Amino acid sequence: MRPWEWAATLIASHALFACGSAASTAVDDDAELTRLERIGKLAFFDGALSEPAGTSCSSCHDPALAFSGNNRSDTGVALGSDGVSLGLRNTPSAMYAAFAPEFSFALIDGESTPVGGQFLDGRAARLEDQARLPFFQPNEMNNAGDAALAAKIANSAYAPLLTEEFGAAVLSDPSRTVDAVASAIAAFERTKRFSPFTSKYDAFIAGNAVLTAQESRGLELFTDTEKGNCAACHVVNPKSANPRDSLFTDFTYDNLGVPRNPRIPANADPGFFALGLCGPKRPPVDDPSLCGAFKVPTLRNVSRKVAFMHNGYFSSLRDVVAFYVTRDTDPARWYPNGRKFDDLPARYQGNVNVEEVPYDRKSGEAPRLDDAEIDAIVAFLATLDDRYGTAAAASGK
Ligand code: HEC
Ligand code: HEC
Repeated sequence: MRPWEWAATLIASHALFACGSAASTAVDDDAELTRLERIGKLAFFDGALSEPAGTSCSSCHDPALAFSGNNRSDTGVALGSDGVSLGLRNTPSAMYAAFAPEFSFALIDGESTPVGGQFLDGRAARLEDQARLPFFQPNEMNNAGDAALAAKIANSAYAPLLTEEFGAAVLSDPSRTVDAVASAIAAFERTKRFSPFTSKYDAFIAGNAVLTAQESRGLELFTDTEKGNCAACHVVNPKSANPRDSLFTDFTYDNLGVPRNPRIPANADPGFFALGLCGPKRPPVDDPSLCGAFKVPTLRNVSRKVAFMHNGYFSSLRDVVAFYVTRDTDPARWYPNGRKFDDLPARYQGNVNVEEVPYDRKSGEAPRLDDAEIDAIVAFLATLDDRYGTAAAASGK
């Protein structure tokens, strides 16, 4: 058996637990994976690693949804392995996450600015640190601790691969076992399965595809500093043939005043607020003007997501783009209770960015983009879906 066939068999033997799409995507890149990456892949799709069994990383980071999704929940936020617990956040795509630098305060334009990190509040420095955490979150994979998880890993079909990679001792210390699996998952997340750069946009900058008139107009509006100005944060460089110059994020943080999502159980308490860089999922940063700021996400594959923004308030990509330009000209459309920036306590409402294009308008002024221009940007965003030209792309998977 060639190595990739063997790995496919392992996945098939776990198909009972793995999410439906795992089997269909199991083999497409295995031949190129190192042993460490292969272990990571098997663990990523392993539904036996949750409590109760049935939830893997891929349940929320579904390859059919560009490694995003909320484990079948339509609330905008992720559903845990217990089948009832909802978290606070909409699952980001794990694609291109490997490009985030470690979290730091960098000097940008003379200002100390938070940049990078994993999670929408940057609380995990690297993919290795990130990968350890969901296993133990009660509302995610719900393991009691290292020992409980290590026992499941020791029982897995890839335990022999782990000892080959790390030595027999790796299975004798639960904390080492979990670290080893986390490092394998991180290695898998750094493979080109997660960062393929195979979108129509990538073909376009390489000179191998032509954008339609509408897509091309969308790109112009996306970069025009008087219109969408999206590229100010969602960085793009169409003049560079290197797709790494177009990650569609600069990994900085901003406060957009996204409306409160009433479907999040924690929000039943009117005094509860998720403030990104100011917690509650991380120790607050020192600067209160950053309370309510979340990481700029990449827009690659964004049209495949089921929900948008950190709290999953939006389920339509067009609404997101319309929100950007009409948040201030027509606030009643987005804040039905009449309270603008209702997902922030009064003392932090002044942190919302109201100065930068496109959200620098006042009530009654014309939005920066009209309806046709919004449509053009949405059409352009669809060119950021990977696997351009394949059957997967055509079916939207
Ligand atoms: C129950 C759903 C769920 C499961 C299971 C899950 N995740 Fe996540 N993942 C999320 C959510 C929600 C976030 C955002 C959380 C936040 O920002 O606080 C996230 C964030 C991430 C990020 C950060 C991406 C970024 O752009 O910052 C990575 C990487 C990631 N998860 C990988 C994994 C891995 C690896 C596993 C398995 C060990 C896993 N996830 C299991 C829901 C899930
Ligand atoms: C000043 C920085 C900035 C500008 C300008 C900006 N964005 Fe964003 N964008 C962000 C941040 C920060 C988030 C995440 C906010 C959150 O979740 O609270 C975001 C989120 C998004 C999302 C949701 C992605 C997801 O995975 O949920 C989309 C879509 C998006 N932006 C598109 C655009 C478009 C289109 C424009 C131009 C019309 C634009 N952005 C301009 C900073 C910016």
